[in-house]
Amino acid sequence: MEKTFIMVKPDGVQRGLIGEIVSRFEKKGYQLVAAKLMTVSKELAEKHYAEHKDKPFFGELVDFITSGPVFAMVWAGNNVIATARQMMGKTNPADALPGTIRGDYGISVGMNIIHGSDSPESAEREIALWFNEEDLNNYEKTI
Ligand code: CMP
Repeated sequence: MEKTFIMVKPDGVQRGLIGEIVSRFEKKGYQLVAAKLMTVSKELAEKHYAEHKDKPFFGELVDFITSGPVFAMVWAGNNVIATARQMMGKTNPADALPGTIRGDYGISVGMNIIHGSDSPESAEREIALWFNEEDLNNYEKTI
């Protein structure tokens, strides 16, 4: 089954949105495979956002993501990578439609509540970066 990496960023954690975000993914029908509340090291942040290392906002991005705990998750389900991106809405909350997570709760492009892998390659890389194989709970729904 397809898997994606989803992270509630420090602003989402501090605003009490973990439950709301988990609930949206559960209600959609996706399956939670792994989750942890953690404070991100500079090293992990720089690896996670490596593709943005030449962007002018890279330093700000790393500072923000290491500023407080994040809630890192792996979700599984049919077409979950692309559908999670639709559920999140556009990167800049100002462009994100109402009904999407960023459209409903986001404040600015930096503080945009949530991160989700943007492709199968990113999902594979990010899941391996944030979780050990034994952290992934692969199970069949029986009820
Ligand atoms: P995310 O999906 O986590 O991936 C890269 C992040 O960079 C993105 O969400 C935004 O939060 C952030 N970002 C993009 N553009 C800017 C910007 N101009 N200033 C600050 N952060 C940005």
